[in-house]
Amino acid sequence: MANKFLSVIAALGVGVLSLSQAAAAEMSMGEFEFLNSCATCHGASGKGDGPANQLFLGGKAPDLTVLQKNNGGVFPVQRVYDMIEGRQETMMASHGTREMPMWGQRYMRRTDEVPSFDPLTEEQKEIYVRTRILSLIEYLSTIQSD
Ligand code: HEC
Repeated sequence: MANKFLSVIAALGVGVLSLSQAAAAEMSMGEFEFLNSCATCHGASGKGDGPANQLFLGGKAPDLTVLQKNNGGVFPVQRVYDMIEGRQETMMASHGTREMPMWGQRYMRRTDEVPSFDPLTEEQKEIYVRTRILSLIEYLSTIQSD
């Protein structure tokens, strides 16, 4: 599964890390980030059983372990990427009102906290944001049910 996933990423031309780096570090980074930023709504298991979902969202945060199953057995990388990033078009096209935070913008703001001697270039900021989203996607790909 991991290999299949990495080849999808490579095919999309969004591979910003070397694959060995991704294999070594991304899994735990994605899991950490998921538990930190997503579990309140989607649940630690990803099944939508997070406390905020029950309390505030009326159960609207979906089960993220069936993304692949509901897409004919193929993990919908681009759709999930766009959803997490929160680009305007995606939001308008697929959701009338959006309750899910837009992580692309949040991660972009956090580039201020990246330790660096020189200010990051726009390209480096893009890479930072993309890496964080891809690490989440990789983690999500490991929790898919059959
Ligand atoms: C404040 C609650 C909340 C948080 C936090 C949250 N989500 Fe969501 N998420 C939602 C809701 C609600 C939806 C359903 C669409 C909508 O209403 O915006 C959703 C939809 C999604 C979808 C689309 C699923 C599909 O079937 O297409 C993905 C993927 C997703 N979230 C991933 C994440 C990830 C990854 C994180 C953490 C970085 C995260 N979410 C954090 C509430 C949340």
